[in-house]
Amino acid sequence: MIIDVLFQVIIHTINNEQIVFIDLLNMKFPDLSPNNKELQWQRFSELLWYSQELGMWLDISRMKITSADLKDLDQPFKKAFKAIHELESGFIANKDESRMVGHYWLRTPELAPSDDLKNSIHSQISKIEEFGNSVLDGTIKTDLGDQFTDVLWIGIGGSSLGPILLVNSLQKKNNGLNFHFLDNIDPVGIKKKFENLGNNLRTTLFVVVSKSGGTPEPKLCMDQARYITESQGFNWSSRAVAITMENSALDQKAIDENWLRRFELPDWVGGRTSITSAVGLLPISLIKSDINNFLMGASIMDKHTRIDDISLNPAALLASSWYIAGSAKGLKDMVVLPYCDSLEVISKYLQQLVMESLGKSQDRQGNLVNQGLAVYGNKGSTDQHAYVQQLRDGIDNFFVSFIEVLSNNNVLPALEDKNPSDFLSGFLQGTRLALSENDRENITITLKTFSEFQLGGLIALFERTVGLYAELVNINAYDQPGVEAGKKAAAEILEIQNNIERLLSSGKKFSLEELFNSIDNPNKDSLFMIVRNMTISNPSYDVTGDWMQPNTLEIRKT
Ligand code: PA5
Repeated sequence: MIIDVLFQVIIHTINNEQIVFIDLLNMKFPDLSPNNKELQWQRFSELLWYSQELGMWLDISRMKITSADLKDLDQPFKKAFKAIHELESGFIANKDESRMVGHYWLRTPELAPSDDLKNSIHSQISKIEEFGNSVLDGTIKTDLGDQFTDVLWIGIGGSSLGPILLVNSLQKKNNGLNFHFLDNIDPVGIKKKFENLGNNLRTTLFVVVSKSGGTPEPKLCMDQARYITESQGFNWSSRAVAITMENSALDQKAIDENWLRRFELPDWVGGRTSITSAVGLLPISLIKSDINNFLMGASIMDKHTRIDDISLNPAALLASSWYIAGSAKGLKDMVVLPYCDSLEVISKYLQQLVMESLGKSQDRQGNLVNQGLAVYGNKGSTDQHAYVQQLRDGIDNFFVSFIEVLSNNNVLPALEDKNPSDFLSGFLQGTRLALSENDRENITITLKTFSEFQLGGLIALFERTVGLYAELVNINAYDQPGVEAGKKAAAEILEIQNNIERLLSSGKKFSLEELFNSIDNPNKDSLFMIVRNMTISNPSYDVTGDWMQPNTLEIRKT
C-alpha cells in the first residue's frame, strides 16, 4: 500500500494528468492519509458526476472502487444496459410473474410499447390532476356538502411508503389536505388514528390502495375504517377512492358500491416502484405539489441512467459501488444519512425499494444465491449523536450514502455569527472525512435545491441503480416471493387459530399437548403463541397452569 502511494506521488510530481488519473483509480483505495490530499482531490474530480439540469452531484470517490474494478465490470454492464433497454421496450422483464416492468413509461409515456399504453398513461395523469384540483377547490364535496379537509390513506408496503415519503418531504404548511396513514393492523394504532381525526372524520377522504386488491392488512384496515365511519353516521362510498388493478376484488367492490373514484394501478407497475403512478401522483396533487415537476425530475434522471457508459451514468456508478463494496454479495449494508429533515423518511422508502427488490434466494437460473443489500438510516446531524459512533469506530460492515441539500437551507439568520446551514454542511463534511479516515466507505449525493423535481430525480436514480445491480447479480428485482410466503404463513396461523377456537367452543378443558394432538401439524411454539394471544386478549378464555412451564397450561372457554 505504502509503495503504491509513493508511486502515485512520483507520478503526480511529473504532472502527467492522464497517467495520474488512471493510476489514481488503480490505487488500492482509499488513499486518505494527510499527505495524499492532492491525490484524493484528483480522484474526486475524476469520479464526480454532475447534472446541470437536475442540480445534482454524485461523489463515489470515497468508495473503494478502482479503475481495474470498473474495467472488470465493463462486460457485465454491457449485458445490464442491454437488459434495461429491453425492459424499457416492453420485454417481459419480470419473468416469474410474466409481467412487463413499465414504471419508466409513467414519466416518459413516449417510451411505452403501444399507443394504447401511452394514451392511458397521459389520460390517467389528467384524471388525477382534475380530481385533485376538484377536491381542493371544493368542486367535489362530501355527500353532506362539506369540503374535504383530510385524507386517510389505507395501504401497506409499496402502497404507502411512497405517499408517506412524498407527504413528509414535500407538504408545506396549510397546503392541501391533512394526511393520515393506516399502514398497519395494530388495533391501538388504528384507534389512535381515528382519535386524531376526531371531528374531521366527517370531511375525510378515504383512499384505499392495493395493487392486488387482496392483501389482508389494507382490507382489514379498510373494514375497520368503514365500520367507524358508518357507525358515526357518515356514508363510505361517496368518500372512498380505490387505487388498484383492474378487475381486482377491490376494484370490483368500488364498482359495485359506486365509490367516489377509481384509479388504475397497471399490472406492469410494481408496488415499490409505483410512486410515479396514481399511488404517488394523487398525494402530490392533494398536497398542492406539482405532479409534472415530479415526473419531469424522474424522466430526466431516467435519461441519464439510460446512458451506456458507466462513468457518465450515475446509476451505473452507484451500482458499481454497491457491487464492489459488498463483494457482489451484499456483504456491506447501506446506511442512508440525509442531512435534511424533509428527507427523514427516505431511508424507510429506500429500505423497501432495495431490500424487497434485491433480497432474493435464487438467481434467474434457480441457483441458491441469497442475495440482498440491507438498508437503514435516519438523518444527520441527529444521528451523529446516535449510531454514527459505531459507524466510525465499530464493525466495518456498511457504507454510508449521505444526501445533502444546499440552497433550501438558508432560511434562518446567522446568530452570533453562526449560520445553521453552514453547521449542517460542516457536520456532514466532518462525518464524511471522519469515516474515510477510519477506512469507512461513503457516497455523497448533493442536491442544489429540493422540491418535487429533485425528489423525482433522486427516486429514479435509486430505482435504476436497483435495476442495474439486479442485472449484475443476475436476479429478478421485480418479484417478491418472500412477501407472498409471509402472507401464506400468516393465513395458515389464522387457520390454526380457527381450529383451536372450534375445539374450545365445546367448553371442554384442553392442555396444550391435547390441542397439539388434535390439530393438524402445528409447530408447538406457534400453538403456544396463538393460545397466548387468544387468551390474553379475550377474557372469555380461562387459563390455568404456569406460563414458565407451558406443558402445565390448560385452557377452557368459559
Ligand atoms: O412492493 C411490493 O410489491 C409490495 O410491497 C406491495 O406493495 C405490498 O405487499 C402491498 O401489496 P398490494 O398493493 O397488492 O396490497
